[in-house]
Amino acid sequence: METFMSPENPLLKKLSKVLKSPELIPSAREVALLEEQRLGLARLSYPAWLEALRDTKDPHRPISLLFEGLGRGAESKWIDQLQRAGGIAQAMVAKQLRKIVLMDGHGRFVFALLDALLSLEQNLAEYTISLVDLDPDATNWHVEFIPGTHVHCDILDLEPKEDTFYYLNFCSLGHQKRRALEFMALAPKPLMVSFFLRNPIGKIAVENGRLTPPKGNRKNKDGSLSFVGMITEMQQLNYDVFSSRGHFVTLVVGN
Ligand SMILES: C[S@@+](CC[C@H](N)C(=O)[O-])C[C@H]1O[C@@H](n2cnc3c(N)ncnc32)[C@H](O)[C@@H]1O
Repeated sequence: METFMSPENPLLKKLSKVLKSPELIPSAREVALLEEQRLGLARLSYPAWLEALRDTKDPHRPISLLFEGLGRGAESKWIDQLQRAGGIAQAMVAKQLRKIVLMDGHGRFVFALLDALLSLEQNLAEYTISLVDLDPDATNWHVEFIPGTHVHCDILDLEPKEDTFYYLNFCSLGHQKRRALEFMALAPKPLMVSFFLRNPIGKIAVENGRLTPPKGNRKNKDGSLSFVGMITEMQQLNYDVFSSRGHFVTLVVGN
């Protein structure tokens, strides 16, 4: 099996032609370049994929090419991802769940999750990762780059299944707040949810592991739920703030 252990490695060279400056969501250009290279990464087993993408200097992180578009915040984003992936791996092992539905960009999160499961001495062959995305470029990237099943749909349209862990990893929630709240209430517990809190909230206030409902309008001008409204309604839910990084917050919703 090929690995990226040396800079002369042909796979690494090919990938450097594809990953110019990967940000949060894969682009159509990246997908086209990846398809040209025919790397076959998505056809690898999970352990082989992990080995192929491991960084030489730090075996618990993927090759540095995957971080180049994230700028100065790359390190704190990665530390936050490692914590979230570790939390999910522990919850899945504790609940004996072997299926997960989640969103990801270029594959950093899937790498962190598989590595966390391996650290817990799990047999990765027993696990099923289903990557969901609304964005066609993101889905096409997943199909080419990440082993697992790939679903091009709205994650909030899925009928949650008891044997599955759900990780809703939103960049922007936009007008999805009401439906995300409904999904959080209905889906099997625990589940994890991440999103950016946009203005007018300002700095995230967390007290006793809960988001403090800020003052302001509970609805936007168009009548949709605002962040103020969402956090206020979330008081009905049993959740804890798992981590927060700037305006990006991750919650674990429990029973
Ligand atoms: C935060 S990005 C993933 C970033 C990734 N974890 C990383 O570290 O690079 C979130 C993805 O969710 C997708 N998305 C947003 N709302 C969605 C929905 N309702 N259903 C499915 N995918 C959605 C976006 O298209 C985007 O690709």
